[in-house]
Amino acid sequence: MPIPSSEAAPARLVVLVSGAGTNLQALLDAAADPAYGAVVVAVGADRDGIEGLARAERAGLPTFVHRVKDFEDRAAWDRALTRSVAAHRPDVVISAGFMKLVGPDFLAAFGGRFVNTHPALSPSFPGMHGPADALAHGVKVTGCTLFLVDEGVDTGPIVAQSAVEVADDDTVASLHERIKVAERAMLVDTIGAMARRGYTIEDRKVRLG
Ligand code: GAR
Repeated sequence: MPIPSSEAAPARLVVLVSGAGTNLQALLDAAADPAYGAVVVAVGADRDGIEGLARAERAGLPTFVHRVKDFEDRAAWDRALTRSVAAHRPDVVISAGFMKLVGPDFLAAFGGRFVNTHPALSPSFPGMHGPADALAHGVKVTGCTLFLVDEGVDTGPIVAQSAVEVADDDTVASLHERIKVAERAMLVDTIGAMARRGYTIEDRKVRLG
């Protein structure tokens, strides 16, 4: 899937967040360099009052919020999210700490160009508690995974992974913070490469360039 990015026409990124937005901030910082090949054009969220949205506002970006509880059902929320993202004509949509599973409408619109960053080495420890589950299991190495979202929970084709060692005295918080350092670097490097070089997906194998 080539993304025709250049300094004149960088790839358009829409980023979805639910919390602190440090991954979003890493993308915003990287995209300040025209050579990066991509720009964040909008930020969406499933809740108000989060630092992720404040970061977007400080960057002068348009934002939108769709709370599941404001909709009749999950399908209506999914349609609204799809419409709002589509309005910004993204080349790639990034779930960066967005704590919701999207539905069929969203995947129909953005499948193959919707990536999620997950704080574990897939296929281990899918779901909402990757660092806690890895720690409880006693693994010595965990990390983070960037993947193309499919219908499953953290099951889609893997674009990039980065390993992080678990220390004997790690807590969930200390481990997650170290994973997030690796995650931000993985996200920035990989999204830039996807934008500049394009990518292909064949039999679950994602290749850049
Ligand atoms: C990140 O570690 C991300 O992988 C995780 O939330 C954190 C968001 O950090 N997402 C999930 O656990 C989704 N299953 P941030 O808001 O500072 O970017």
